Amino acid sequence: MPRSIGIGVIGFGWMGQAHSRSYRNIPAYFPEADIAPRLVAVADTDQERVDLAVSNFGFASGTEDWRELIERDDIDVVDITAPNGLHQELAEAAAAAGKHIFCEKPVGVTPAATAAIELAARKAGVITGCGYNYRWAPLVQHTHSLIEEGRFGDLTHYRGRFFSMYGRDRMGLLSWRYLQEEAGYGVLSDIMSHAIDMAQFLCGPIRRVVSVKEIFVKERPLPTPGAGTHYERGKPGDPTGEVTNEDYVGALVEFENGVRGTLEADRSIFGPQSQMAYELNGSKGAAYWDHEKLNQLSLYLPEEQPTDGFVEVLSGDAYKHHGNFVPGGGNSIGYEDLKTIEALEFITAVAEGRPNKPDFGDALAAASVAAAMVRSWESGKWEDIVSLRID
Ligand SMILES: NC(=O)c1ccc[n+]([C@@H]2O[C@H](COP(=O)([O-])OP(=O)(O)OC[C@H]3O[C@@H](n4cnc5c(N)ncnc54)[C@H](O)[C@@H]3O)[C@@H](O)[C@H]2O)c1
Repeated sequence: MPRSIGIGVIGFGWMGQAHSRSYRNIPAYFPEADIAPRLVAVADTDQERVDLAVSNFGFASGTEDWRELIERDDIDVVDITAPNGLHQELAEAAAAAGKHIFCEKPVGVTPAATAAIELAARKAGVITGCGYNYRWAPLVQHTHSLIEEGRFGDLTHYRGRFFSMYGRDRMGLLSWRYLQEEAGYGVLSDIMSHAIDMAQFLCGPIRRVVSVKEIFVKERPLPTPGAGTHYERGKPGDPTGEVTNEDYVGALVEFENGVRGTLEADRSIFGPQSQMAYELNGSKGAAYWDHEKLNQLSLYLPEEQPTDGFVEVLSGDAYKHHGNFVPGGGNSIGYEDLKTIEALEFITAVAEGRPNKPDFGDALAAASVAAAMVRSWESGKWEDIVSLRID
């Protein structure tokens, strides 16, 4: 009998739906895992989304009140995909109820909230997971293995970035993401968090940063309540509101191992669409990966290849987890497949009662770097990373 794990999802927007499809897909794509996630309950303040979850996704029940969901004995995992401003209250309640918790990045609405959530989960002894899904691209895992094997030599340079198109249209709605009181910081929390996590996953801890920020689009059309995602548009003449958090963050970074580099994130830039990317250089080689082409990795390992310069490696079943989706080489996988791998890794850790990676500790490590970037915006100077962990 597959191991049965009860799931409750709070927030049924883009991520709530993506996570739910991922849990559903696990038995089909990963039968060898021998795990059967049960979609026990969904909670969303939008009744239409609750109805959709029950009618089309196979949830056994739905509610507009997340407290009812957390109280249920048949739920083992609470999956938090509500707006960031709610995460702390939800995660602390789930931890107090002894539930294992998967929470979308950046976990807390502020770095301090991430620290409080990490403490609550650690004290409760529950297993945690965090939505740093880009780690799970098979060729990112391959890059990580090559680094561990020393194939790039000593790492010297790292340039990480997340350039997204979602806010470049001035008619893009003023969703919760653009409001300090609901989202916390802007791209710092939303997508720089991914870039920081990837940098630390590949190169290790960051030691210090100097950072700048900017709001490029200062007003946006107001959304109608309950409508749409941050990808939807208003019309010229619609009432507008003020954007209260940053569109852009840039930073120079120094890692503890001496690597020097840059990190940038922007949601209003023209050109890139979803360019979550890294370029890394070492004393013996280099690599370049970009989520827009997630099935390709540019590798330069001069001691191992017959020609000089970068060579293009295509993802395929030679790389971890890829073959569970499609066999052979060059048959692509996509964004939601990374979400399915993420869900598989987390739910397997829960089934086996062991820690998961990335967890709230990794979210705290990213939040500690984000906090140093905020201090640098204020001081205009280099700021050391100080761990926000509460003991
Ligand atoms: N890892 C990634 O690539 C990625 C991508 C997008 C979003 N995210 C993260 O996922 C989370 C959700 O983002 P999204 O884009 O899915 O947002 P969304 O706006 O599409 O969905 C949020 C949902 O939460 C619901 N909600 C609001 N208040 C609620 C409450 N009190 N109780 C229950 N439900 C409530 C809304 O009705 C909506 O359905 C955020 O933390 C975000 O940072 C991660």
